[in-house]
Amino acid sequence: MSQKIKAFAPASIGNVSCGFDVLGLAVQQPGDEVEITLNDSKKITIERIVGDGGRLPLETEKNTAGVAVIEFLKSIGQAQGASIVLHKNLPLGSGMGSSAASAVAAVVAINELMGLPLAKKELLPFAMEAERVACGSAHADNAAPSLLGGLILIRDNHPLDIIEIPTPRELFSVLVHPHIEVKTRDARSVLKQTISLNDGITQWANTAALVAGMMKEDYELIGRSLVDVVAEPLRADLIPGFRAIKSIALKNGALGCGISGSGPTVFCLCHGRGNAARAGKAMQQEFLTMKLESEVFVSEINRQGAYTIH
Ligand code: HSE
Repeated sequence: MSQKIKAFAPASIGNVSCGFDVLGLAVQQPGDEVEITLNDSKKITIERIVGDGGRLPLETEKNTAGVAVIEFLKSIGQAQGASIVLHKNLPLGSGMGSSAASAVAAVVAINELMGLPLAKKELLPFAMEAERVACGSAHADNAAPSLLGGLILIRDNHPLDIIEIPTPRELFSVLVHPHIEVKTRDARSVLKQTISLNDGITQWANTAALVAGMMKEDYELIGRSLVDVVAEPLRADLIPGFRAIKSIALKNGALGCGISGSGPTVFCLCHGRGNAARAGKAMQQEFLTMKLESEVFVSEINRQGAYTIH
């Protein structure tokens, strides 16, 4: 059995506009990498975190990679010792599923080191538990796509019922990450606990239509279903110029545009790489008019999810 394994887990777009907490989409890049080495200590330690500027906790129980490994080992009943090195490529508080990617990469690595006792899908609860530690809510809309790739619908959390939705071949995603931070915990605290019946109807109509659009490869339907009347109106003000960015994206090749997860990253979906590159550039320019630097990630849909690197 190997003693040391590295795994990669990609960023993801939580919610995908209308699917608050129930839809998530994996992108190709960027992603986090976690390297785990087994040892005889019977303890799980975080040896090092690279790329977080010293901001993430090194205490195993407070770190999403650490929590996922502890929960996994508990579940398979093994008191294995291991040390973790986390390569944090995803920005913190970005809305790109950063905390989920670390947890997913960690649990994929430890599962392989322990001889693959669990199937990939069965690893999801450990990453969700890590999400609870990171932001107070065990939502799966980042962890599930980061683990499995593609577009994932979480029909239920108890018991976990996740559905992989096919996506059209020429669908591209764009993530534009402005250099500000929004904590998921804070972005959840601005939400209301109740919504009107009218908003409910609009939201579930769009969620169902988005899934139908994906399955029918109907790009126009995908675009007009990227509507969120639940979270986006309440979170828009957390992102400077969000409405202008969205309108620019739609004028420059985006089918639809919204907040990625809890923000501040803004995403759009496009038909073809050319449209995606054009929309991304226009959105970045618009952020610059507000003196906000940003990074743009244009990507095909990631259909593989997390994997080990040999
Ligand atoms: N569904 C979560 C939220 C995703 O919107 O709060 C967090 O990235």
